[in-house]
Amino acid sequence: MNTNHEESVVDSLSIFEEDILKGLMAANKSLPSKYFYDAKGDELFQQIMHLEEYYLTNKELEIFNSHKQGILDTISDGEPFRIIELGAGDGLKTKILLRHFMECDVDFTYTPVDISGNVLEILERNLFEEIPELKIESYQGDYFDALADISAKPEKDIVFFLGSNIGNFSHEEAVSFLSSLRKELKPSDMLFMGVDLKKDPSAILSAYNDSQGVTREFNLNLLDRINGELNGNFIREHFMHYPYYNPQTGECRSYLISTVDQEVNVAGEHIHFRAWEAIFMEISKKYDEVQLKELAEQTGFKIVDSFRDKKNWFSDVVWMNE
Ligand code: TRP
Repeated sequence: MNTNHEESVVDSLSIFEEDILKGLMAANKSLPSKYFYDAKGDELFQQIMHLEEYYLTNKELEIFNSHKQGILDTISDGEPFRIIELGAGDGLKTKILLRHFMECDVDFTYTPVDISGNVLEILERNLFEEIPELKIESYQGDYFDALADISAKPEKDIVFFLGSNIGNFSHEEAVSFLSSLRKELKPSDMLFMGVDLKKDPSAILSAYNDSQGVTREFNLNLLDRINGELNGNFIREHFMHYPYYNPQTGECRSYLISTVDQEVNVAGEHIHFRAWEAIFMEISKKYDEVQLKELAEQTGFKIVDSFRDKKNWFSDVVWMNE
């Protein structure tokens, strides 16, 4: 793995620099959330996933625990199939289904896809210990490269996209992502997708503004990363973390707001912040039944089924490519 390590580090450093400067020099400033995930960011993200206020993980776990047989009946017709999981992470939730499917003697292969080879290695080792008979073929790389390579094979594919990661796209981005994803699928292949639902706005806001300040740290960590890797001089005390939920669009957006008029240097550029000027960091969109139906229609999927927790806070939808 990583034979071109040095080259790719140089390459990705300049793309990183370009993306960060582009975001900071725009009229409405933003920073791409994909850069949250350096080593410290990965660690903070894992902490977020285990916070009580971050209900999303627990709700999806509850759904898997209480509907594992229903999920199996919906995605499997008895023929061998493959589960392709986009952004597998630590596999904590998926393991519940994998273990159940193995106990039911189901013939399937698990293909976790992740951009990080390190994440995949840890996951593989862990799965080998916990579910030794499981057939794993992991894929390191970009989602679409993975889908193009993998779905060329004859078995039926079920693409897992969990944790409300679809919510990290705007509506337009979600439509384009899911349409492109569907084009990589064979007829009757399925999408199994975790979606966070609209609910009491105060519960949503607490998930992105936890009382221990982990999500705040997670956002501020990107400023530290820019300081370290792009010779920046952000002073984190001069920025506040501010998530905001719009109950009509279902968009929870997080911002870092400059509390003072200040100039920050990044990679040799001088960036001016007016007092209370915001940097848009990330969107976590919440859906309702009507919006989900529209999304399926706009992207050419047929709705097959959905599984929810008791409080109707989260939904795992099963959609099919016709
Ligand atoms: N997709 C999940 C969500 O929107 C996880 C996530 C992505 C997240 N970025 C985040 C959680 C930032 C907290 C903060 O909730």
